[in-house]
Amino acid sequence: MIKLICTKNKEEMGRYVADRIERLIKRKPDAVLGLPTGTTPIVVYNELASRFGAGRLDFSRVKTFNLDEYCGIDENDTDSYRHFMMEHLFSKVNIRPENIHFPDADAIDLEKECARYDGAIAAAGGLDLLLLGIGHNGHIGFNEPQSEFVVGTHKVRLSDSTIAANARLFASPSDVPRRAVTMGIGSMMNAAKIIVMSSGADKSEILYQAFHGSVKPGLPASILQLHDHCTVVGDPDAMRCFRESGMPVEYVENENCFGGE
Ligand code: F6R
Repeated sequence: MIKLICTKNKEEMGRYVADRIERLIKRKPDAVLGLPTGTTPIVVYNELASRFGAGRLDFSRVKTFNLDEYCGIDENDTDSYRHFMMEHLFSKVNIRPENIHFPDADAIDLEKECARYDGAIAAAGGLDLLLLGIGHNGHIGFNEPQSEFVVGTHKVRLSDSTIAANARLFASPSDVPRRAVTMGIGSMMNAAKIIVMSSGADKSEILYQAFHGSVKPGLPASILQLHDHCTVVGDPDAMRCFRESGMPVEYVENENCFGGE
């Protein structure tokens, strides 16, 4: 079942998702999280770091599996997704290095590495909670629009629109890696719970299409319609199409921001 949540703003979205994570970790201190990089989750990671600083959260038994990593970028490079996660979350909380997992996108035997990553997720008991952002083309992780859903972790060629969107994070567009390794749809759909986060008007249309139209590999996020416990949470701009469509949207902390709604 899909639950649609509209928060007052992006920061409130961060607090909503952090609340869900805090409740999970309190109930299950060895929770297994699937985590994205990108601009959208930064508000969540900031909130988690500040709650850890306030003594509210303990990550000492938490395990994390990141969604993806670029090929051809050293993990210590400032452009790597591992570096992003260290900077925004892992260096600020007490997670153990051995509990942090990424696919090795430059493994010599990539097929074996992808199978290892899927095996590690399964051996951890699967993901208790998967956080996702959504690309402008409907990608989740780096599962780009294509002719079929790919179940396992795999190497992908990034689409032109993804390369263009991610160019903002690199010194020059030509520096954006063309390939990456991503978790596949299988481990994602096996997650006990999923939260899709989105902020900003530019995501409203694709988000709506993903959860309103038909399920198809040309719009990878549409597969999430088939998940039993998927929440879509966004700020008013990102949730605009849902709000205007009459789909049932739950408002969180809505006292000042929706005018007469
Ligand atoms: C990143 C990832 C991507 C992003 C998506 C949205 O690890 O998996 O699917 O979630 O591209 O990125 P932002 O949040 O930067 O708009």
